[in-house]
Amino acid sequence: MGNADRADAELIPDFSPVCDEASLRIIRGYTHVNANYELISDNLLDLSHVEYLHPDFARREGFGNFKIGDGADGNTITAYLWKPNSPITAFQRMLWDTTSERADSHVHMRWDPPSLLYLDTGVTECESAGKRWRQLSFRALSDARDSHNKPLFLGARPKC
Ligand SMILES: [Fe+2]
Repeated sequence: MGNADRADAELIPDFSPVCDEASLRIIRGYTHVNANYELISDNLLDLSHVEYLHPDFARREGFGNFKIGDGADGNTITAYLWKPNSPITAFQRMLWDTTSERADSHVHMRWDPPSLLYLDTGVTECESAGKRWRQLSFRALSDARDSHNKPLFLGARPKC
């Protein structure tokens, strides 16, 4: 992708937290999506899509007390979604060892142009210093019509 002689390592955002193999179980692969990468970026940054398109991640009470925000730092844009004191979803229950019925959840998606996305999602028991579960993932989107470009997916969660 591009001219290797013009590559500048200083311009590559730091996604090293998702690569910590000592503490994380890391999954690598790729997902083919039959859509333009800009549309996929837009979808991933719109954190409300989860409640409509992923029933296993959705909450029975809908958006309820969700809090949203966004931020920009240079070329980086981050979308934030917090779900304080919300019922634990079926998906979280499957991955997280807790007896709690409710937790504080967060979903934050960072975008670096043109096509790098970094997801930080997790849940924390509502009590202060409660148990916590967190999952990170990184996506480098690319145009699959170019056979040299392979989109990359990298997901990580704490080792058990
Ligand atoms: Fe999604």
